[in-house]
Amino acid sequence: MIIERLSTGVKELDKLLKGGIPKGFLVAVAGEPGTGKTILCLHFSWQGVLDGDRVVYVTTEESRDSVIRQAEMLGMRLEDAVDRGKAIIIDALLGSDRWSLRSLNPENLVEKIVEAKRELGYGRARLVIDSMSAFWLDKPAMARKYSYYLKKVLHKWNFTIMATTQYAISTSEAFGFGLEHIADGIIRFRRVVRGGELRKFLLVEKMRQTPHDLRMYEVIIEPGIGMRLMGPVKYRAEDFALPTSVSKKIVESRKRVKSEVPDD
Ligand SMILES: Nc1ncnc2c1ncn2[C@@H]1O[C@H](COP(=O)(O)OP(=O)(O)OP(=O)(O)O)[C@@H](O)[C@H]1O
Ligand SMILES: [Mg+2]
Repeated sequence: MIIERLSTGVKELDKLLKGGIPKGFLVAVAGEPGTGKTILCLHFSWQGVLDGDRVVYVTTEESRDSVIRQAEMLGMRLEDAVDRGKAIIIDALLGSDRWSLRSLNPENLVEKIVEAKRELGYGRARLVIDSMSAFWLDKPAMARKYSYYLKKVLHKWNFTIMATTQYAISTSEAFGFGLEHIADGIIRFRRVVRGGELRKFLLVEKMRQTPHDLRMYEVIIEPGIGMRLMGPVKYRAEDFALPTSVSKKIVESRKRVKSEVPDD
């Protein structure tokens, strides 16, 4: 059986994924701040434009203008794609036009995404949601339920989805865990300061229906070009492990949250 795969726009990553992300998948892009999640989403979107897919990009952490500027710096003419009716950027931070979200709730989000897809027309489509965490920051216990809802409803609209989830630098924990379980794939970014230098890494933690690479690769962002993967690299567990005292605190705080937030 041949699986249709969508290029991520980063050719080294496509190789790790045996060609790309299977069509129709929801992939979680997880990691600490500044590790490259947004840049990967931009590559995925721009590749969609190049491949003739419909592209819907939801931004919750940056304004539409900021996304467009960042893309321009990497040689992606996203604004032009929007003008040509190939892509729609839904601004959930600052916007007040038709393609803006005024409240961060999953029903509004789905409605707007479907409206955008209708506007763009039939055909294979890509959806980016950067970030999903914004939708459950004040109610982390809802993360799983919301993720499930989005996946179920958006499936029939011919989307392949890349959605980011943020992890705290201090604990490497997600703000609300759930997307990772619902997702068909997980691309995990990590950061390490070694010898006074910040370095970023990528690991494909899960990709259903794909015999993917299990090694960790160093990520570099080249001005004017974007994301490249170097490697693979060897790393030691202690490079990413937390001191015991911190781990203890996390366990205690998790217990506290559990007792305060009822499972629904
Ligand atoms: N135009 C550029 N040229 C070179 N490097 C860049 C460029 N833009 C961003 N970077 C590098 O990439 C990093 C940001 O990556 P990105 O915005 O994708 O992070 P992120 O994982 O989305 O973070 P956050 O969770 O805060 O949104 C920057 O901190 C910088 O190191
Ligand atoms: Mg980002």
